[in-house]
Amino acid sequence: MNQASSPSGRTFHLEPATKLTGTVKVPGDKSMSHRSIMFGGIAHGTTQVQGFLEGEDSLHTLEAFQAMGVRIERGGVGEVTLYGQGVAALKAPQGPVYLGNSGTGMRLLTGLLAGMNIPATLTGDASLSGRPMRRIVDPLSQMGAKVLTGDGGTPPLVIQSAAQLKGIEYTCPMASAQVKSAILLAGLHASGTTTVHEPAITRDHTERMLRGFGVDVQVSGLSASVQGGQQLKGTSLVVPGDISSAAFFLVGASMTPGSDLLLTGVGMNPSRTGVIAILKLMGANIQVTNERVTGGEPVADLVVLGGKLKGIHVPEELVSLAIDEFPALFVAAAAADGETIVTGAEELRVKETDRIQVMADGLRALGADITDTPDGARIVGKRLVGGVADSCGDHRTAMSFAMASLICDGSITVLDCDNVNTSFPGFASIAANAGLHLTESVNDTDK
Ligand code: S3P
Repeated sequence: MNQASSPSGRTFHLEPATKLTGTVKVPGDKSMSHRSIMFGGIAHGTTQVQGFLEGEDSLHTLEAFQAMGVRIERGGVGEVTLYGQGVAALKAPQGPVYLGNSGTGMRLLTGLLAGMNIPATLTGDASLSGRPMRRIVDPLSQMGAKVLTGDGGTPPLVIQSAAQLKGIEYTCPMASAQVKSAILLAGLHASGTTTVHEPAITRDHTERMLRGFGVDVQVSGLSASVQGGQQLKGTSLVVPGDISSAAFFLVGASMTPGSDLLLTGVGMNPSRTGVIAILKLMGANIQVTNERVTGGEPVADLVVLGGKLKGIHVPEELVSLAIDEFPALFVAAAAADGETIVTGAEELRVKETDRIQVMADGLRALGADITDTPDGARIVGKRLVGGVADSCGDHRTAMSFAMASLICDGSITVLDCDNVNTSFPGFASIAANAGLHLTESVNDTDK
């Protein structure tokens, strides 16, 4: 194998860059895009979605609902119309439902299908096939669902017919919106009340969006409840730009003096804005402008002026509010003066990859001073020298390593970048327009 290209698929090649400028519009929020299809697919009446993320993950969810008989039309970019006919009209999918790289797709769909008593087999790619599913299967079993896992509690998941589920009160052992959502979605069709208590705030798109579809969701502090037997009504919704995709640009611009970047239409749900809070604690200059509410979600334009960041101990209460942004934040830490310490972030080890390990290995290969710990990392900022960083097929590590070219004296090769398309189609050209010296190569000889 050529050292500087992926064994198959896309490789990013980066020459050193100094700043990010101009205007960037990131694609639609991935979490909301999944939910727009799931809720529109089971609702009564038409649902019109604008700003839908046309990435591989959310498209797999869309295909899953087509396989269950829902008529779904795609219009212009980001426009999707679902002609929902309610739960009774859904058919069990013929054959396995492939959900690609998406933990959200698999975990939420399992809760939904188990509640509706629709038998199905859910499969995924190599990464998803290694991810923990007992975290949803255990509470769903307590509700009366029958869901089989592979050895070790991983996919494929086989949802079998069961009697009507019963509502439970469940205390989540980990901060996970996916677990919370799987249980609440099963609770929609269970008898009685289903309540989930969380150990920390996690994204609340399920709660907010269900309300948009006419469902009564009770929220009190870290607890959310739904009553079984509620029907969803079709609606119109606008998906804002994904703050998790904006995060790469927030980091890239914040850590480079001379940067002046405008990010438009970014979702500002308070359960997602931890990345901005953390960067501000590191000294970043990020102004939140033009704040408005679209489809029940706060949205804003973000102005980022580059400067010098300083190392911090990231407050643990911000971890669940920025859980997908740590790969990018590790790069910010590699650029900052002094030491940054991340603790309480062990959930990073069960994402699309073990993101602590992949970021530590990749940044070290580029010359960073980083020590991984069981629940985070210690990073001492310094200029990077360049080299080869393996994203290990993880979209967020790939885009983070690309941003490292802004603090690097040599060239960087990022391996295994195909999955950038799961969440951020068009990343390479958008990043190049903003100032990265990024080119891509595709090696499909081994595919
Ligand atoms: C998501 C929840 C998060 C996040 C994922 C999307 C969601 O996972 O990492 O990218 O849409 O609910 P956990 O809830 O498991 O932390």
